[in-house]
Amino acid sequence: MQVSQDMTMARAKASATTVVEARGLDKSFGSVIAVDKADFEIKRGEFISIVGPSGCGKSTLLRMIAGLTPRSGGSLSVNGREVTGPRGDVGVMFQKPTLLEWKTVIENVLLPTALKGRVSEADRSKAQALLNLVGLQDFAHAFPRHLSGGMQQRVALARLLKIGSDILLLDEPFGALDEFTREHLNLELSRIVSDANVTSVFVTHNISEAIFLADKVFVMTPRPGRLAAVVDVPFPRPRELSLLANPDFVDLVARVRDIFSKGETA
Ligand SMILES: Nc1ncnc2c1ncn2[C@@H]1O[C@H](COP(=O)(O)OP(=O)(O)OP(=O)(O)O)[C@@H](O)[C@H]1O
Ligand SMILES: [Mg+2]
Repeated sequence: MQVSQDMTMARAKASATTVVEARGLDKSFGSVIAVDKADFEIKRGEFISIVGPSGCGKSTLLRMIAGLTPRSGGSLSVNGREVTGPRGDVGVMFQKPTLLEWKTVIENVLLPTALKGRVSEADRSKAQALLNLVGLQDFAHAFPRHLSGGMQQRVALARLLKIGSDILLLDEPFGALDEFTREHLNLELSRIVSDANVTSVFVTHNISEAIFLADKVFVMTPRPGRLAAVVDVPFPRPRELSLLANPDFVDLVARVRDIFSKGETA
C-alpha cells in the first residue's frame, strides 16, 4: 500500500516537472525527413532555444509541439496529455505579428479574450498591465500602423501573455528586426518570461542568441533534421549583454558551431 502510494506520488511529481516529452518523434513530408526520431524532455519554467541552419526542422518541431502539424511517428505529450491538435495551455508566436489593422493596440491584445466571450474590466486592466510590461503603456489606443515593427511584435507578445498559456512557443519572433532592436527585445523577453514563470521554447538560427537566452540549447542539424545535441547553459540570471564577450560564453558558441560541422560531415 505504502509502496503504491509512494509510486503514485513519484509519478505525480515527475509529471508536474516535465511539461513536454517526446520519444522517437518523427515528421516526414513525402520523402523529406523534416524531424528524425527526436527524444527530449522540457521541464516547467525552462527556457529552451532550438538552433540550427535553415531547413533543419526547427519550425516543424515547434509546430508539432503546438499541435499545428501532425507527427508522422513517435510519441509527444504536453502537460502529461498526448498532443492531438492546438490547445489552450500552449501559445505560439511567429515572425510576423499578425495584428488586426483596424483595431487599437489594446483591442488586439484583448482579441483572443473577446473571441472566447465577454471582455471584463479585469481583462482590460490585465491587458493594460501587460502593455506596461512590454513598454507600450502610452500606445494602448494607437493603431498598429503607427507602431514600428519591434513595437508591433511587443503587442503580439502582450497578446500571447494575455492568453495565459503556461508554455510559449516562439518561432524567430524578432527575426525580421534589426540587430539592436532584436538584442533589446531578447533581453526584455527573458525578463518577462522569467517573471511570468512560464516555459519557453524559442527558435532561432543565431547561435549567440540561442545561448544567451536559454537554460538549454537544442542543436539541430539538417538532412535529415536531427536533434544532434542538448547543450546546458550554465550562466546565472539575470544576464546582461556583456555576457556576449565572456570567454566561457565564446567557448560555448564555438562548441555549438563544432556540433554543426560534425553533423554536416557525418
Ligand atoms: N508543409 C510542408 N510541406 C512540405 N515540406 C515541408 C513543409 N514544411 C516544412 N517542410 C520541409 O521540412 C524541412 C524542415 O522545414 P522547417 O520549416 O521545419 O525548417 P526550419 O529549420 O524552420 O528552417 P528556417 O530556418 O528556414 O525557418 C525542409 O526541408 C522543408 O522543405
Ligand atoms: Mg522555420
